[in-house]
Amino acid sequence: MIKSLIPNSVKTRLKKIQLMSDYFYDFKRFKKYSGLNLSEKREAQLKARITAQYHVVEKGMTLPKTRLGYGVGVINQLLSNLEKFDKYNYEKNCTEYKSAVATLQSYVDYHLVKEYNVDWLIPKLDKFQMKKDSIGGIIEYTREEIEEKSKDRFSVFSQSRHSVRHYSDTPINPQKIKNAVKVAQKSPSVCNRQSSRVYYTFEKEIIKKALSYQSGNRGFGSSANCLLVVTSDIRSFNGRNERNQSFIDGGIFTMSLLYGLHEEMLGACPLNWSTTAKRDLEIKKHLNIPEYENIILMISVGNLPDKINIAKSNRLGTEEIYKELRFR
Ligand SMILES: Cc1cc2nc3c(=O)[nH]c(=O)nc-3n(C[C@H](O)[C@H](O)[C@H](O)COP(=O)(O)O)c2cc1C
Repeated sequence: MIKSLIPNSVKTRLKKIQLMSDYFYDFKRFKKYSGLNLSEKREAQLKARITAQYHVVEKGMTLPKTRLGYGVGVINQLLSNLEKFDKYNYEKNCTEYKSAVATLQSYVDYHLVKEYNVDWLIPKLDKFQMKKDSIGGIIEYTREEIEEKSKDRFSVFSQSRHSVRHYSDTPINPQKIKNAVKVAQKSPSVCNRQSSRVYYTFEKEIIKKALSYQSGNRGFGSSANCLLVVTSDIRSFNGRNERNQSFIDGGIFTMSLLYGLHEEMLGACPLNWSTTAKRDLEIKKHLNIPEYENIILMISVGNLPDKINIAKSNRLGTEEIYKELRFR
């Protein structure tokens, strides 16, 4: 009865305050647990940083025109982070450490084959004294190999999808993109609200301009023949409990879209939209994307070239991520 006596305007104001307090809960947890501050001894955050850094090194070897000797800055940061494993006595027999060392080794081998001098790095690597593993670096594929696997059952099909950062310059059949979007539309979404939207362009000039706002496509983005921007409409959600739902529905939708593109034998690379509010507003203005949509990410797309290098992007062991629920 009391509830019914409260005027709607007051109820709305109360809801806004509650929403703020829940966002504050998100803020506090992110501030406390993310890798914002790596000066302290924090193992999980250090491993994540190492993974991101060795990934930059491995993806450099998959670009259409790799600049030999690239990445000295990030390699030095990576080396210094790997040294922290000694300093803090962390277990080195872990996926992140081993993959990073293997990727650096692969970087050295890649340059040696091309007779490019990387003598500065070899003695630094020797220090890590790992047995040579093949879990980092790149894999060379032909288009036919990818095509064959993409027709197999889902467990093989999904393993044969990779982020592709090298495209042929032939134009894409627009129907293929539409087919992939149709696949993505079968993704589950909360109460079937289907908040996801896909913006597309095949125009090189627009692709170039849009990608100038994104950090992560250097060396390959401009060679894409199609750019997709996946968004999720915030207007589909209600209340504090659904404040992050658009990112979840948008993420699930995106994964299906990537599989749809793979089925169409298109090379695609998801591109983060981890950005500032200022940049988010700027791009929305230029691309005519309404403020009420969250940009989930961009995807660069192109036809596969005959031969392609793919970043291995080694995964954690299943036992490392699969945990039995316990109730206290
Ligand atoms: C949300 C998201 C953002 C990503 N952003 C970038 C990016 O900006 N640049 C890039 O080259 N790759 C990006 N990737 C691709 C990842 O590096 C890649 O998915 C990961 O290394 C696993 O490799 P795989 O996709 O080949 O299996 C992104 C992936 C996701 C899911």
